This record gives sequence, structure tokens and C-alpha cells, in this order.
Amino acid sequence: MRPQRLQHPSPGGSLARLLLLLALPGAAQGSFEVSVSPEAAMVEHGGSVWINCSTTCQNPAANGSLETSLTKADSKRGPGWAAFLLVAITEWVSAPQCYFTCDGDTKVAAANISSYRVPERVVLEPLPEMELGRAYNLTCWVLNVAPVTHLTVTLRQGGRTLHMETFQNHTGIGPNDIPVTHEITPRRWDHGQEITCHAALDLMPHGPHFENSSSVVELQEAESLTAKIIAISAIATISATLLSILAWGLAQRDRSRRKARPEPGEATSSQANFEMAQASTEDAPEEGGSLNPAEDTSP
Ligand SMILES: *[C@@H]1O[C@H](CO)[C@@H](O)[C@H](O)[C@H]1NC(C)=O
Ligand SMILES: *[C@@H]1O[C@H](CO)[C@@H](O)[C@H](O)[C@H]1NC(C)=O
Ligand SMILES: *[C@@H]1O[C@H](CO)[C@@H](O)[C@H](O)[C@H]1NC(C)=O
Ligand SMILES: *[C@@H]1O[C@H](CO)[C@@H](O)[C@H](O)[C@H]1NC(C)=O
Ligand SMILES: *[C@@H]1O[C@H](CO)[C@@H](O)[C@H](O)[C@H]1NC(C)=O
Ligand SMILES: *[C@@H]1O[C@H](CO)[C@@H](O)[C@H](O)[C@H]1NC(C)=O
Repeated sequence: MRPQRLQHPSPGGSLARLLLLLALPGAAQGSFEVSVSPEAAMVEHGGSVWINCSTTCQNPAANGSLETSLTKADSKRGPGWAAFLLVAITEWVSAPQCYFTCDGDTKVAAANISSYRVPERVVLEPLPEMELGRAYNLTCWVLNVAPVTHLTVTLRQGGRTLHMETFQNHTGIGPNDIPVTHEITPRRWDHGQEITCHAALDLMPHGPHFENSSSVVELQEAESLTAKIIAISAIATISATLLSILAWGLAQRDRSRRKARPEPGEATSSQANFEMAQASTEDAPEEGGSLNPAEDTSP
């Protein structure tokens, strides 16, 4: 039995190995590593971040650089490292690459930078007055949020979670308006309960955690038909009563005014004309069109 060998025995394999050694002289002269910190970053859209490239290369001539389409606003260097300030980050995902050349050999490490945007608004669509036992959709909109894959939307009634949704499989980068819908069938005891919509954008461990809530919407039970009829007749009754009281009050007022009035003969002509004009508008309906205020007061 032939001894097992790990190395490929064929002459072609040796050639390939030779070419590999020629192509990567650093590997032959003692290897070095290139790393980037942070490896992944979550930056607010339009924000900035320092990216630090470093190497284990011992050669002080090793010079690091960062290749990126993002704007570099500043840099710092030290032995075995170079840091770059990236600003005005408006790309939703980008992968700047750190290069170090050590004794003629170049190695690269990439960083993942994603930008995020906290929801601009969390809006719960207004609800109509609801009929008991009928199905309605609660709809919440989380507007202008990125990345959607890190979003969790929760619909709550009082302290209770009605519905929770995540979007790990959401495709497409950049901000989006996300609707979340949940069907409810209100019961009598739901009346007056508060509905809210919560959006959480969790960027941990590479970024912060945000929570936003919609304003509160109250479940309103529509009045039943019977309740409406009762309400309408109640209003009608009250109105009728008020009208009669008003009419009675007006009549009383006229009566007392006439009692306090001086004898017709004593009134000056201008006063009498004024009183007559006033009486004609007030008294016409109930006194059969009489224009003479003196008639009633005569004993
Ligand atoms: C960077 O992103 C790529 C693709 O999105 C992913 O495969 C890789 O694991 C990420 N690297 C880090 C360090 O997060
Ligand atoms: C960059 O990283 C190197 C090595 O990890 C460290 O010594 C140096 O202080 C860092 N520079 C900055 C600006 O963070
Ligand atoms: C390293 O490269 C940068 C540009 O890539 C250059 O400005 C700098 O002078 C270089 N430093 C050294 C020590 O070669
Ligand atoms: C969401 O929360 C963030 C920070 O917590 C805040 O800046 C932002 O204005 C909030 N948005 C809404 C719609 O409340
Ligand atoms: C609620 O929305 C779902 C899906 O959007 C739909 O299938 C359902 O019919 C809607 N229900 C009502 C009561 O509108
Ligand atoms: C996301 O996709 C994976 C695999 O494709 C699947 O198993 C999982 O159920 C999906 N998650 C959601 C929330 O749809």
C-alpha cells in the first residue's frame, strides 16, 4: 500500500505551486495580515465614520490605503495602520477596501458600511366607528425607513400585542414605506380601547436601537340602529320642550312689558311708533295680526 500524501504528486501540481509562490512572494518571505476596524458599521444616512486599516507587516515602509467611492475627509497614520474619515455617507451599502503593500506583496480587507434612516413617521390609519362582529383592517405605515431588514412593527391594543411583523427577507436596499395590516373583529368590551403601532429599528451590534410609536387611535363602537332611533327621538323631544318653553317665555315677557307700559295717551308719538313696530314683529303670529298694542291692556 502506497503511503498517503497530502501534496499532489503530478508535475502539473508542482508547477501550479511554483506559480503560486511567484505570484505571492509575501507568503514565501513570512506572511502578514491586513484587517479593518470596524468590519461592519451602521451609519446614519449622510453621517460619517472612521475606518482603521491595520497590518501585521513589520516593514515600516508598508503603506496603507483605502479604496472607496465614499468621500474621505481626513486621515491619520501610524506604524502599521492608517485610518480614514468617511463623510456624507449616502450610499445605502458600500464596501471600502483596505490595501497594504508589504515587501511588494499587497493584501486587502473590506469593511461593510450600511447607512440607516430612522422612520420619518409611524402612522396608524384612522378607523371608522365600528360595528360589533364585523371585520376591519388595522393598517400601520412606517414611512421612509432603512434598512427594512432590521425593522420590527408591532400593533398593540392596550398593553396587548395584536400583531408583530419582521422583514428579514425583504429584498431591495434603500428606504421604503412599509405597510402592516392586521384584521380585527371588535367586541363590545373593545370599545374605547387604545390601538398603537410601534416601529423598532434594531441595528445592533453595529449600530443603535430605535423605537418609534404612532399616535393613539381609539376603537369606537358605532351606535346600533336602535340606539340611533332612541337618540334621535330624545333629541326631538328635548327640542320640542325647549321650543315650548321659549314660546311661553316670550309670551310672558310681552305680557309683563305691556303691564309696565304707560297709558297710551301719555306716550309721545315717536315712542308709540317704536312700540308698535316692535309689537308687530313679536306679536303678529299669536295675536292674529293686531297692530294695536293698546287693545290688550284695556281693562
Ligand atoms: C459584508 O457583506 C457581505 C454581503 O453583504 C457579507 O457576505 C459579509 O459577511 C459581510 N461582512 C461582514 C464582516 O459583516
Ligand atoms: C488603528 O488601529 C491600530 C491598530 O489596531 C491602533 O494602534 C491605532 O491607534 C488605531 N488608530 C485609530 C485612529 O483609531
Ligand atoms: C502612503 O500613501 C499615501 C497615498 O496613498 C501618500 O500620501 C503617503 O505619503 C504615503 N506614505 C508613505 C510613508 O509612503
Ligand atoms: C423616532 O425616534 C428617533 C430617535 O429615537 C427620532 O429621532 C425620530 O424623530 C422619531 N420619529 C418619529 C416619527 O417619532
Ligand atoms: C384586510 O386586508 C387583507 C389583506 O390586505 C385582505 O385580504 C382582507 O380582505 C382585508 N379585510 C378587510 C375586512 O378589509
Ligand atoms: C425568510 O426566508 C427563509 C428561507 O428562505 C424562510 O425559512 C423564512 O421563513 C422566511 N422568513 C419570513 C419572515 O418570511
